Amino acid sequence: MSLLHHFNNAPQAGFPQLRLRRMRRSAELRSMVRETRLDPAHFIYPLFVVEGEGIRREIPAMPGQFHLSVDELVREAASAFAEGVPAVLLFGIPATKDPRGTSAADPQGPVARAVRELKRELPRLLVVTDVCLCEYTDHGHCGLLDGQQVDNDATLPVLAETALAHARAGADMVAPSDMMDGRVQAIRARLDQEGFDRIPILAYAAKFASAFYGPFREAAQSAPQFGDRRSYQMDPANRREALREVQADLQEGADLVMVKPALAFLDVLREVRDEVTCPLAAYNVSGEYSMVKAAARMGWIDERAVTLEILTGIKRAGADLILTYHAREAARWLA
Ligand code: PBG
Repeated sequence: MSLLHHFNNAPQAGFPQLRLRRMRRSAELRSMVRETRLDPAHFIYPLFVVEGEGIRREIPAMPGQFHLSVDELVREAASAFAEGVPAVLLFGIPATKDPRGTSAADPQGPVARAVRELKRELPRLLVVTDVCLCEYTDHGHCGLLDGQQVDNDATLPVLAETALAHARAGADMVAPSDMMDGRVQAIRARLDQEGFDRIPILAYAAKFASAFYGPFREAAQSAPQFGDRRSYQMDPANRREALREVQADLQEGADLVMVKPALAFLDVLREVRDEVTCPLAAYNVSGEYSMVKAAARMGWIDERAVTLEILTGIKRAGADLILTYHAREAARWLA
C-alpha cells in the first residue's frame, strides 16, 4: 500500500476539530487555496467576418457580438489583443453559397482576407480558422450531399482544400467543426503535402448535435435547409462515444481536442481531461452566451459574476482553453 493511500485512509479529525470554514475567513486565505484561476491567456475569441467595408452590425440573437467587415474585424481583434486575449477564431459569411460550398476555399473569401490582414496588422495575435462547409453550402449542411444524405468521404477533400486556403493565407491553426469521419487525417495530409506541417489542428472532437447553437446559426446564416445535423454531430446522451471521437481524432493527428458545447457537457469535459494528455478546449457556445445576456438584460442575474462563474466552472471541469464570446469582456474584468 502506498504511503499516500495510507494517509488518505487514516482516520481524519471530525467536527469540532475539523472546520473547513477556517480557510474561508478572509479574501487572502481564500485566494491562497483557490484551485482554479481564470487567465485571459487561455481565451479564444470567436468573430464573424463578412464582405464589405465599414460594417459592424450587431447580431440580434447575440447582443454584443457583431458581423464585421475585415477592416472592423482588425479593430475588434486589436482591442481584444490589447486587453489580453491572445487568439481569435474566424467564421466567414460569404457573398455566395452553392451546393458544394465552393467559396469555403476561396483565397479571396472573407476568412482568407481577414487572416492576411490580421497577420499583417497584428502579427502576434493567434489566428485560428473554423473549417466547415455549413456557412458556404446553400443547403446549410456541413458536407456535400448525396441525395438527402451528407456524403462523408466526398466532403473530405473539400475540407482539406479549405484548411489549406486558410494556412496559405497565414492562419496559425485550423479547427475543423464539421464532424465528418477522417477529416483530421485528410486535412493533416493535405497541409503536410503543401509544406504546412507546422500548422496545428484543433479538432472539434466531441461536438454534440445541440440546440445551444441556435443563435450562431442565425449569425452565420448556416441553419440546415432540411433535416438536422444528427447524422454527423453526436447524440447529447452519449458519454463513452465522446471518448472514442477524441481517440479517433488524436490517432488521425489532432494536436488539440475540443468538447462542444460546454455547459451541458461538463462531465464529458472532465472525462476527456482524465483520459488524454493533449491540450483540451471547451466551446462556450452561442446559446450559452445569449442566455446570460438575455437574463442580464432582464435584470435577473449579475452578468459579470455569472459569466466569471461559468468560465471558472468550465476551467475546473478540465478545459485548458476556452472558446467564448465573453472573452473580451471577461479579460477586462480579470485585468
Ligand atoms: C459550424 C459550427 C457551428 C458552431 C461552430 N461551428 C454550428 C453548427 O454546428 O451548427 C456553433 C458555435 C456556437 O453556437 O457558438 N459547423
